[in-house]
Formats: sequence, C-alpha cells, structure tokens
Amino acid sequence: AAALPALAAACGTDQDGGGSSVPPEKLTFNNRLRIPPLAQPKVQPDGIKRFDLTMRSGQTEILPGKQTPTWGFNSGFLGPTIRAARGDTVQLAVANTLGEASTVHWHGMRLPARMDGGPHQPVEPGATWSPRWTIDQPAATSWYHPHPHGSTAMHVYRGLAGLFLLDEPGGPDLPHAYGVTDVPLILQDKRFAADGSFTGDPLKGTFGILGDHVLVNGTYNPFFEVKAQRIRLRVLNGSNARRYHLRFADGRRFHVVATDAGLVNAPVEVDTVSLTPGERIEIVVGFAPGEQVVLTSVGGKADIDEGDLDLIKFVAAAKLAAMPDLPARLADRHIDVPAGARVRHFKLNGHDAINGESMDMTRIDEIVPAGAQEIWEIENNVYAHNFHIHEVAFRVLDVDGKPPLAYAAGPKDTVYVPGKTTVRLAVQFGEHTDPGWPYMYHCHILRHEDSGMMGQFVIVKPGTEQFVSRTLPGAE
Ligand code: C2O
Ligand code: CU
Ligand code: CU
Repeated sequence: AAALPALAAACGTDQDGGGSSVPPEKLTFNNRLRIPPLAQPKVQPDGIKRFDLTMRSGQTEILPGKQTPTWGFNSGFLGPTIRAARGDTVQLAVANTLGEASTVHWHGMRLPARMDGGPHQPVEPGATWSPRWTIDQPAATSWYHPHPHGSTAMHVYRGLAGLFLLDEPGGPDLPHAYGVTDVPLILQDKRFAADGSFTGDPLKGTFGILGDHVLVNGTYNPFFEVKAQRIRLRVLNGSNARRYHLRFADGRRFHVVATDAGLVNAPVEVDTVSLTPGERIEIVVGFAPGEQVVLTSVGGKADIDEGDLDLIKFVAAAKLAAMPDLPARLADRHIDVPAGARVRHFKLNGHDAINGESMDMTRIDEIVPAGAQEIWEIENNVYAHNFHIHEVAFRVLDVDGKPPLAYAAGPKDTVYVPGKTTVRLAVQFGEHTDPGWPYMYHCHILRHEDSGMMGQFVIVKPGTEQFVSRTLPGAE
C-alpha cells in the first residue's frame, strides 16, 4: 500500500498545529460507538499465542459522507484489542505494509528491551517483526502504538493505536463482558480538512495537534447503549497532546478501579478524573433504566486542556441487567522505595530536551540495576508536560510536596507534570537485563517526544553498572 499524501498545509498558531477547515458542530450522538474487535490469537503447538498485526493504510468514513485517508492495524483505522493473561507467552507478528519504516511499542508492558518496540526496533516496509515474551504482571489496560523517533506523532495521528488488555486469573469480580459491560474508550482529538482528511501539523507550535473533533474508538459523534446497571469503562487518552477532565454532564459520581499499570487497592469515588496522553484509567459507573447522560471533558487552564467538549452519550436501555456490587478491596499492591533509595533528577525545559540533552539514539542516559526501587524526580520549569517511563510501574509520591489525589496514587507508567511543578515518583524497575538495548523515558505529548524530549536507560545486572558502555554502536 502507498504512503499517505502529506497532510493538508496548516495555518499553525503558537499553541498547536492548527489548520481545521471544518468547524465541529454541536454533537447529536447518532453514531453507535465502534468497539475495536478482539484479536483472535493463533495458538501454536507449543502453546504460544500468536497475534498477527499488519500496519496498513486505508480510507475510513469518520465524518458523514467523507473518506479520510487513515492508517491502522489489520483494518484501515486503529487496531484490534489484544487480550492475554498473566502466564501466557505471546508472539506478535507485526507486518509493515506502509510505505515507510515504523515500530510498534507495547506501552505498559514489562518485557525485555529488545521486544519493547521503541525506536531501536524498526520494522522496515515489507518486513515482519515478531517479538515474543511471557506476560508476568498484574491485570491492566495497556496499549500499543508506533514509536519511530521523529515520526511517532504523525504515525499515531494517522490512526496507528490499539488496546492490549492484560488479565490476571483470580482477580476481583469487575464487569468483564467486552464491549457490553467492559467498554474501551480510546479518546483522540483530530482536525479535519474540507475533503475529510486529517489536517494540522503534529510537529508545529508548542504542543502539536490540539484537535477540535474528539473521536471515541474512531467514532465521531458517538453514543453507547448501556445494557447493565453498572459498567466498566477503560479509557485511554490516545491523543497527541490533549488533556481531558472527564466528567458526566449531570455530575454523577463513579469509582476509579484502575490506573495505567493496574488495579487500585480499593475503589475511589470521584466525579472527575483527568487524563494526559498515554494515560489510562478504568472507572465503574452506574445507570438507571432509560436514562441518558453525556460524558464531557471540562476545560482547564493548561493550554492542552482548553475548552469544554462533549465526548459520548450513554443511553441506558429500559431494562438493565443486574450487576454484583463493587468489591470493597481490589488489590493489595504497594509500590514503595526503601529509605535511602537512589534519587534521579530530570529537568524539563522547553520541549525538546531532558536535563538539557536532546534524545540521541546512541547515548545511554541512565544505567539502572535490575529490580531497583528508585525515586525519579521530574522538575518542570515551563508549561504542561507529562512523563512516561517504559518497562516500569510507579506511584506518584508527591506533586510539589503534596500527595496526589487518592485515585492518582494508583499504579502508573505515565504522569502529568504541570508547568512549574516538581513531581516525585517511586519507580519499580523490572528484572530483564540487557546493557545493549535501551528503554525510553519521555514526555508523551508526541510533539515533544518527537523533537527530542526523550532519554534512554538500560537495566543491567546489579554490580555491573560501572562496566556498562554509555555509547551504543552507531555512534561516531
Ligand atoms: Cu506510549 Cu514511549 O510510549
Ligand atoms: Cu511506553
Ligand atoms: Cu512535553
């Protein structure tokens, strides 16, 4: 398949890549929410579950009567939901039929670095890349997306993204009927040109794309028909830059049951949750028969969250299936650091460097011993950023010295770092050592990641740190 033509030229503003020529209309919620299909694994004779993913281009009707050139996995837009359980060995056969190299990163996955799908694992056009690993981490809503250095923003914006759900046998009884009581919501904001194509430049302005049309699972103007008294929503912010503050229009309360890296220990009741790019949250919300309510995003003051937006309408059926009560306890997980834990400090200035250094694929920035528990301190001296660390799970210790909101203290891998604020994280590193293959940490505002706000770390055998090279082959 051919590469997409360049996106229509955009008239950028200071803040974003601009360029919408189709203003959004007031939503009428008349499109049924698309549910990404569950990928069916091919179980190999040795028990390995193989999932085939083909990166391809296509045409998708997103706005009524218009065809949008898009990219997707196995279909023209977005990708199937992959589902596996702790203990499964999975193999992902990723074929690239795009006209250019890409990569596929398993965001949230604890796995050997050479399987991670970062910038060091390119899949050339026509090639297939087949990483394999055994799932060994708690239940979580993870996702997958391209990570080619400098092109991540464009590849994701065109539509390459999907969910990767991890189950754990023996977990708590939460709503789990996929697409019925356990519903994925992938939030992505876009701008459209008059001919239906995506427009705006994801590498322009301070933040890249801030769209004015929000798609949910690729559906514009969506509704979802609720058939049970209580449902679980797994929300992914798959946007390039936008931050959402999710709130039901009637202010109803709901429970947070999981954050990026898995279940919170007990449900947390709230009426609003915030989500920056790359973050996930699972909530459980109740409905009365026949009622209708819109999920909105309330505008904030951080440049990346301006403006009130309607996202999706929930329409409850006249008869709703009974559901069990929410369990009072969901997990017993404690991400902590020992006294005297190593502290690493990261300074965010501008939008193209960390600690004054722009991403260099041949430079190892940090060397971490396997199994380490460390404090990572992220000091943001400018405007809104966030921070994602591959391979790890972390807990937010404090934000400018104050504890995070209760729901935001759950296990995470991506965190909002407000402008002029320092966030401290207790980070739990894994056991997969390999001094030759780095993992990434970066701002997940893709415009920033692509322009160099990213660094590399390796996980090595404890005691070997001083022998590990800080330069990777390919360096002059
Ligand atoms: Cu979701 Cu390194 O990214
Ligand atoms: Cu990641
Ligand atoms: Cu940033």
